[in-house]
Amino acid sequence: MRSAGESSDVLVVGGGLIGLVTAWRSAQRGLSTTLADPEPGGGAARVAAGMLAAVTELHHGEQTLLALNLASARRYPAFVAELEEASGRTTGFRTCGTLSVALDSDDRAQLRELHALQRRSGLDSEWLSGRECRRLEPMLAPGVRGGLRVDGDHQVDPRRLAPALVTACERAGVRFRRARVQRLRVAGGRAAGAVLADGTELPAGQVVLAGGSLSGRLEGLPEAVVPPVRPVKGQVLRLTVPSAYAPFLSRTVRAVVRGSQVYLVPRVDGELVVGATTEELGWDTTVTAGGVYELLRDAHALVPGITELPLTETRAGLRPASPDNAPLLGPTALPGLHLATGHHRNGVLLTPVTGDVMAHVLTTGELPEAGRPFAPQRFAPAPSGNGRRPSPADTAPATQEQPA
Ligand code: GLY
Repeated sequence: MRSAGESSDVLVVGGGLIGLVTAWRSAQRGLSTTLADPEPGGGAARVAAGMLAAVTELHHGEQTLLALNLASARRYPAFVAELEEASGRTTGFRTCGTLSVALDSDDRAQLRELHALQRRSGLDSEWLSGRECRRLEPMLAPGVRGGLRVDGDHQVDPRRLAPALVTACERAGVRFRRARVQRLRVAGGRAAGAVLADGTELPAGQVVLAGGSLSGRLEGLPEAVVPPVRPVKGQVLRLTVPSAYAPFLSRTVRAVVRGSQVYLVPRVDGELVVGATTEELGWDTTVTAGGVYELLRDAHALVPGITELPLTETRAGLRPASPDNAPLLGPTALPGLHLATGHHRNGVLLTPVTGDVMAHVLTTGELPEAGRPFAPQRFAPAPSGNGRRPSPADTAPATQEQPA
């Protein structure tokens, strides 16, 4: 065994957005911090569209998660301002809003239902007729039957956000170990660091497991603390809007077409991101003809002119999903081991609040109020009683929306 030298206060395993923001905030609070990942800023951040869709992606039964999503959405403007200042890089944050539209009467009924849920949850969204939708976005199909205008659901470019976080980490003194972590190091009944694939030891006082969908696969994790995260595949396309076509879309446009979500996210630089499939296929990240066909078919139904655009990239990534679709944040049953994973559809949105929650945990040992419903212990086996495990939905305040 080789040791990489002095022990760190904190070792973050995983260099996606969640690992990076945790390391940055940890270092800012004066903790000596090491981050281990073969390719910091890679993974899902290379695939995700970067929608900050707290309102348009609201689901029945996810009211507690909604509170965390909104808390993070509120933090975004100050977060990107601080990050851009700290890194000297841009993040592609764009306060463009979102339009969710319906193409037939079934879609419209579903969107009306979402609108009612949004209003009962105290969220801002406005119902528009098809004509009003097309006035906002003239490239929309003539058959659009109505839509929801949500001016507060913005976007950021994860391919810019991740490098900005890497630079901010470097400037804050985070040490990067660009290598694969093989296993957790446990000593004296607590997490004490990790061991790299080449056998190098990285000793640390506290370990944060932020490995996205891979979090449950780290060797050496005691069974009781293995996070219940699974990969959910998403295929995503990237197109380019030639300057002669601009502005093609001025905001994120999305719809449910024949039961499948499709969204079009226009960047200022002309990139147009089209996503995403949702596939329970384990670790498969193959881009399939069927996936690309379905995304283009649904995007074309929404915005027919899309077929004129150059298709520049196809890619698939894995969302880290937990059993209740909410993240796992904070201490585990193994002293010294924390989780920051399971962010599923909301990793980009939840980046700012996760950084704050994890920094609080790492410096005080306690979850702050915003993070308490997301403690990993909610998935611990029930000691007795009905055998059912509590979930964030169970802890929702009585005033919050419950499933209809
Ligand atoms: N939040 C968008 C997606 O997961 O596809």
